[in-house]
Amino acid sequence: MTQKTIAEKLLAWYNDYGRELPWRVKGGAHPNPYVVLVSEFMLQQTTVKTVIPYFYRFMASFPTIESLAAASEEEVYRQWQGLGYYTRARSLHATAQMIVNDFGGKFPDSREDVLKLKGIGAYTVASYLALAFDKPETVIDGNVMRIMARLYHMTQPLDEIADIIKARAQLLSSKEHPADYASAVMDLGAMVCTPKNPQCLLCPIRENCQSCQKPDVEQIPIRKKLPKKEKKGNVFIITDNSGAIFIRKRTEKGLLAGLYEFPWNDDGAVYPAAVDTGQSVTHIFTHIKLTLRIYTLQSGRAPLPDGFFVSRENLADYPFSTLMKKVLSAIQNKKISIKNPRTC
Ligand code: ADE
Repeated sequence: MTQKTIAEKLLAWYNDYGRELPWRVKGGAHPNPYVVLVSEFMLQQTTVKTVIPYFYRFMASFPTIESLAAASEEEVYRQWQGLGYYTRARSLHATAQMIVNDFGGKFPDSREDVLKLKGIGAYTVASYLALAFDKPETVIDGNVMRIMARLYHMTQPLDEIADIIKARAQLLSSKEHPADYASAVMDLGAMVCTPKNPQCLLCPIRENCQSCQKPDVEQIPIRKKLPKKEKKGNVFIITDNSGAIFIRKRTEKGLLAGLYEFPWNDDGAVYPAAVDTGQSVTHIFTHIKLTLRIYTLQSGRAPLPDGFFVSRENLADYPFSTLMKKVLSAIQNKKISIKNPRTC
């Protein structure tokens, strides 16, 4: 009997043990590329467990690429709210509009066309083409890097061996069943070849693995840790004479673009009449830990030209970033008292 290849072992294992996920159909390409597109955007920086309820909610609101393309940016943000990394929502929305307007509603299925879409990099182009169209693409993410580094017991830092890993991953990929193979590797990384406490005894490719049950398996791959940069700043809850709160929309580019916020800065400046509440909120972005000290301020007029006052009851109508929702929740939990002239 001929030896099974690694791809064949992974495919057989996936057939028996692969996860049932709402965006997944086992046994080949997904029939609906829209499902793949939405889920892959959501999964770019968020775990499967977190994504599932958001995926259902989003698909219920925008069941087709046409409905997503026709929605307003605000509606899209509202359905994305809580998932974070809002640039993804903007890009997904722009991508839907491009597919409807530039591709006549037909989902592109070539590398060249897919790369014209917004927010689609090396990882997503490969996962979209493999999962939606069964194209022989190799999906390379953190799971694949870890599995490959362990398979060949590669103990050099990951950034020094990334190219070798990619080449090996390409060689191992199934050319016959790319969609199932991509899903199989994702599941192996999520359920068996996990970063901590890998389940080597349950691994379908343990006989091929040079790290299997070695004492350093958990340390591989070796990552050089970059410390998170700490930033401090101030955020201002500015109320007018009726108790309404000043908000503004972030500019269309950059961090948290398009979402609403209370005015804040990271240069230490404080409005002269602002009152320090003693409360802070902290949020961790990919490379930055940002802590904002909360100040209150009463102002008869808008303090900045690019915003407006909103009554407290209506604040929920505006999409806020997770960072600003933490500020909002500090206000709503009454950790911070804001004088309301109507009641005092
Ligand atoms: N991570 C990224 N894409 C995924 C997918 N389609 N299924 C499970 N995990 C993923």
